[in-house]
Amino acid sequence: MTTSLIDYCRSEVEALHASRTFKLERVLEGPTGARVRVDGRDILMLTSNNYLGFANHPRVVAAAKKALDRWGNGLGSVRFICGTQELHKELEAAISKFFETEDTILYMSCWNANEGLFQPLLQEEDALLTDGLNHASIIDGVRLCKAKRFITPHNDLAAIEKALKEAQACRRRLMISDGVFSMEGEVAPLPELVDLCARHDTTLVVDDSHATGVLGATGRGSAEETGVWGKIPIFTSTLGKAMGSAAGGFTTGPKPVIDLLRQRSRTSLFSNALPPAVAASSLEAFRMLLEDPAPVQKLRHNTLLFRRLMTEAGFNILPGVHPVVPVIVGDTAKALAMSAALFEKGVYVSGFGFPVVPQGHARLRCQISAVHSDEDLHGAVDAFIAVGKEFEVLG
Ligand SMILES: Cc1ncc(COP(=O)(O)O)c(C=O)c1O
Repeated sequence: MTTSLIDYCRSEVEALHASRTFKLERVLEGPTGARVRVDGRDILMLTSNNYLGFANHPRVVAAAKKALDRWGNGLGSVRFICGTQELHKELEAAISKFFETEDTILYMSCWNANEGLFQPLLQEEDALLTDGLNHASIIDGVRLCKAKRFITPHNDLAAIEKALKEAQACRRRLMISDGVFSMEGEVAPLPELVDLCARHDTTLVVDDSHATGVLGATGRGSAEETGVWGKIPIFTSTLGKAMGSAAGGFTTGPKPVIDLLRQRSRTSLFSNALPPAVAASSLEAFRMLLEDPAPVQKLRHNTLLFRRLMTEAGFNILPGVHPVVPVIVGDTAKALAMSAALFEKGVYVSGFGFPVVPQGHARLRCQISAVHSDEDLHGAVDAFIAVGKEFEVLG
């Protein structure tokens, strides 16, 4: 490695520190749940995607342990060489049953699912439409695809319709949207997107990473939540959030699409199979949700309680029903300092500022879980009120 490259890295890291955008990793001393242990203290976890509390659920953990004994640690290979076990097929079948789709392909992550999706399905003659605020993994997947790109301003339906009209000149069209935009906790306007895609002969794909197991009466996600269940042909989603919180992702949809992805999707073809313990833990998570959606209802109860208490306290929170509850404080330095002050009071919540969110819209992004108790949430709001007054966010 040349000295100049090392010097470049050092100066970039220094610049990140100077601009206060350097990302700190706190080290947890145990599993994640309603609370986590950090620096010898139990802290209320208000910043995790462990929406259903399955990350450390006894059934999920037991399934992983059992799978290690039954299936071993890994396959040492990719799926099509010698990396597919009955367990992977069972998990794919469970996901297809959950989504009422024909087939499913697993990946190591939803990042990989998104990155490996477009290039096999679309060529230069085709069109790929994508929202300007879509997740980074979608952006990278789009970059790997040769189709003509139409990147529309966030949720701007008039701009989307204009792009769809222009894209009629292309051979085939595919539109991709996040089901939930995770910095905002905002659900995409799926009924409108379904309608626009139907009128302009376009296949809609929804990345439901923040909605699977989270939204809708039974946790089926953003389509169930917005009343368009059965009208979206293809979903990608993660196993690393609500559905076990470990790792893994998938694409689910019509069999010919999944068949072609198995043949041509590079992030599946050239990357190892999901470790058996991870596959088994997510399979257990899907079984639990298919048996009883009670955790989804508990999550909704908790979310609405926290949103109500924070609104009554006078905080500026972005409206909605999602357990991502962004508390807008404006200035990036203030958001980061408030995050540190809340941590001192025993509440773990991340601050996000520019450039992750627009200038002047820095925020504390709270994330609610089904494993929080009402008392936990009341305690969190009390801590917020104290810190909000200290930082003059509240009067
Ligand atoms: C919308 C969306 N898609 C994809 C991903 C990536 O998921 P994974 O952690 O499974 O790679 C995330 C994770 O933050 C996400 O929010």
